[in-house]
Formats: sequence, structure tokens, C-alpha cells
Amino acid sequence: MAEFGHKHLLGIKGLKAADMEQIFETADEFLGVLNRPIKKVPSLRDVTVANVFFEPSTRTRLSFELAEKRLSADVVNFSASSSSVSKGETLTDTINNILAMKVDMVVLRHPHPGAAHFLSRNVHASIINAGDGTHEHPTQALLDAYSIRRSLGAVEGKKVLIVGDIRHSRVALSNILCLKALGAEVMLCGPATLIPPPVSQLGVLVEWDLDKALEWCDAANMLRVQHERMDMKYFPSAREYSRQFGLTRERLERRGRPLTIMHPGPINRGVEITTEVADHEQSIILEQVENGVAVRMAVLYLLAAQNKN
Ligand code: CP
Repeated sequence: MAEFGHKHLLGIKGLKAADMEQIFETADEFLGVLNRPIKKVPSLRDVTVANVFFEPSTRTRLSFELAEKRLSADVVNFSASSSSVSKGETLTDTINNILAMKVDMVVLRHPHPGAAHFLSRNVHASIINAGDGTHEHPTQALLDAYSIRRSLGAVEGKKVLIVGDIRHSRVALSNILCLKALGAEVMLCGPATLIPPPVSQLGVLVEWDLDKALEWCDAANMLRVQHERMDMKYFPSAREYSRQFGLTRERLERRGRPLTIMHPGPINRGVEITTEVADHEQSIILEQVENGVAVRMAVLYLLAAQNKN
């Protein structure tokens, strides 16, 4: 197998299309493993991974932990809320103390953009960015692109719509970089207050009318409204947001042809997407979660193989 050539996964920025294809081809193998009666391989035996989460997470944290266990790694979990961080310990000291216990890889979620980059320059372990504030969430973008590939047969040439709170979304930035690198066309739609002007420099289209945007696309990724990161009111009310930018059955019917419906989770049901659309037969939201384990297995496997060399 070709060398992966990366010690860390800090963002989609820094990856080439060929790196992403290598991750997808490896994930294809692991998806096969996950559908076998015995869902475990010995690839990461004797590798210890620490999942270090300074922000809440359900999907990413469980998905990484399962991926690590399916690869037979030893796993330790760290959550800031139950740690000595509250006693004033720095990020570098916290991680160096974890590494002193002979940890090889760190999966880091942190509220500050650049935290994973900072750590990669200051500690010896391999770092995987599991979301750094409003900056990047590379494994989410990889699993989203992988899910489009499985749903539509390819990413190249496909039209992908990203709807909603682009301003506060690390998923949006990583998705734009990933999809563009793989040859997809990307359109953004949402309230003008939540689409900051610099994103138009990333080679994307912007459409303010959701019905027109839905007419254009093959897949729509409905982002969560990130109330916890909002320091002011960006739209009048959740009801108004839902009326203009929510994906509803009526909108699907107006479009009149199949749509690959996506959401990175967690969902605000009734705001960015209605319950009946989230659970619709064209929704691949739970496939995204399933694919996430295989994609994260692939990332862990490729980084661990690289770090052995
Ligand atoms: N999609 C995602 O990152 O979800 P969690 O915040 O639950 O990890």
C-alpha cells in the first residue's frame, strides 16, 4: 500500500485529493469488516489512543472510540469536565501528562480554533483534530464526502448544497475544502448574517432562496443552528428560520425528484429539518454515522502505519 505521508490529521487543508481517495478506499475495506459477525481486526494492537474532549460530543467521540476498539487499540478517554483542567492546568501540560503514560495518538476536540495545530507542534504524539471551535472538523467532512460517494456513486461532478449556520460551522469549512478538492460543485444557502463574505472566496456559489438551491443540487447537507456559539441574534426567531431555511416535506415535494438528505448531527428537529424529512427514506443521516466509524478506522490505520515507518 502507498504511504499516507502524514503524521497528523489536523484539517482538510493540507490533504490532497489522492490522500482522501486513499482514506475512502481503506474505509471501503473496514466497512466490510464492520458488516462481518466478528467486527474486529488486530491492526492497532499495541497502539494506545487517548480521546481528549474539551467540548461535548456524542457521535464523534463514540465513533472514534468504536473505531479504535474495532482496530484492537488500547483506548483511554479524557473529558475536561471531570479533569484537573479546572484547577488551571495548561493544554500542553494536560496532554504531556497523558503522553507520559505511553499514549501514541491523541484525538482532540477543543473549543479554540488551532488547538490541534498548536498541540502537534508541542507534543510528540500523532494528533487527530476532532473539531477545533469554528475552524475544522476533518473526519466529519471525510465521512460526509464518503457518504455522498456511496449514495451517488461519486463526489466528482456532483452538486452539493450546504444550508444554514455557515458562520459558526467547522463542518461547513471542512466540507467545502473536501468537496472542492474532490471535484464537486458547492452551493451555500442560509441567512445573510450566517454566511460571512470570506467564504465566497472559496470558490462556492451562494443562493439565498432555499427552493432555488434545492432545485440545483444532488445532495443537501442541513447544518445545525449553533445557538451555543451565538453572541447575538442572527435571525428573528427559530420559527422564521425554519420557514425560510428549514427542509420540509413540502419543499421536497416541490423539488419533485430524489434528493440525498444529510445532516452532521446533532439535529434541531423542527428548525433546520422537520422530523419527517430527517427520518425520510431519502435521508442518509444514519448512514453518515455508520460510515463515520469506517472512515475513522481508515484515518487511524493510515496514521498509525505512517508513524511506524
Ligand atoms: N457531528 C458531530 O460532530 O457530532 P458530535 O458533536 O455529537 O460529535
